[in-house]
Amino acid sequence: MNYLVFGANGAVGSLVGRELVSADHQVFLFGRNGEELSELATSLGCRFSVLDACDISAVGDAMVAARSELGPIDGIVNCAGSVLIKPAHLTTADEWHYTIATNLTSSFAVTKFAPEVMAEDGGIVVLFSSAAAEVGLPNHEAIAAAKAGVTGLARSASATYASRKIRFNVVAPGLVKSKMTEPIWSRERSASYSQKMHAVDRLGEPQDIASLVSWLLRPENDWITGAVFNVDGGLARVRSR
Ligand SMILES: NC(=O)c1ccc[n+]([C@@H]2O[C@H](COP(=O)([O-])OP(=O)(O)OC[C@H]3O[C@@H](n4cnc5c(N)ncnc54)[C@H](OP(=O)(O)O)[C@@H]3O)[C@@H](O)[C@H]2O)c1
Repeated sequence: MNYLVFGANGAVGSLVGRELVSADHQVFLFGRNGEELSELATSLGCRFSVLDACDISAVGDAMVAARSELGPIDGIVNCAGSVLIKPAHLTTADEWHYTIATNLTSSFAVTKFAPEVMAEDGGIVVLFSSAAAEVGLPNHEAIAAAKAGVTGLARSASATYASRKIRFNVVAPGLVKSKMTEPIWSRERSASYSQKMHAVDRLGEPQDIASLVSWLLRPENDWITGAVFNVDGGLARVRSR
């Protein structure tokens, strides 16, 4: 089967790409850091394309080009994203626009072109929200708004494209040890503070998230659409203390 992975350089994206390749699928990787992406793609034996996932027309062109190289696409995962932990009154206009673009515009871009590149018998799109979109955490206004937008986008697209058999599902992680969250988990005090907010008493590992994404991509798990999966150690819904 044929899959596209955006944000493929990231902790979750690279694991998803790796798992798909080991399951003998054809995978096209997309990322913005050409050097890292080319290294990853070479090690996995994948095709790749360097782009800014916020550039809607560049994403469209790259998806159409990937379809002509691989054939009809069965699944698309958008792992591109960022985090911003700042109260609204200290968030600059540029930070707001960047947060909305990396998280929400990139998800809109892959959604917009999915129908054009997907197989006749449909497929799946996996997008990323966050626990921060579901529970009020302090200093998360911009990222919570962007990630809540992703959930709304996916639910509407699930309805619009149901007749085309294209399904949209959302993964909403808690705090996962990846590149974007390194300033939090690499400092003992903030790591321990954040860990205590999760009922399952540890921070997330990229594998916690990649395992669910790989499961969602399997064609036999196709009775799921418009769903949001909290993979967050309980952060969004559970208070244990
Ligand atoms: N980690 C968490 O705690 C957490 C929590 C909630 C939600 N999430 C979401 O989970 C998803 C996966 O993130 P992760 O944990 O794997 O973090 P990560 O390791 O930091 O990966 C994020 C990737 O997104 C890429 N990216 C950002 N903006 C881009 C753009 N404009 N164009 C192309 N690529 C872009 C980054 O590229 P560079 O390599 O060039 O920086 C990076 O490779 C993201 O959507 C994130 O928002 C993560």
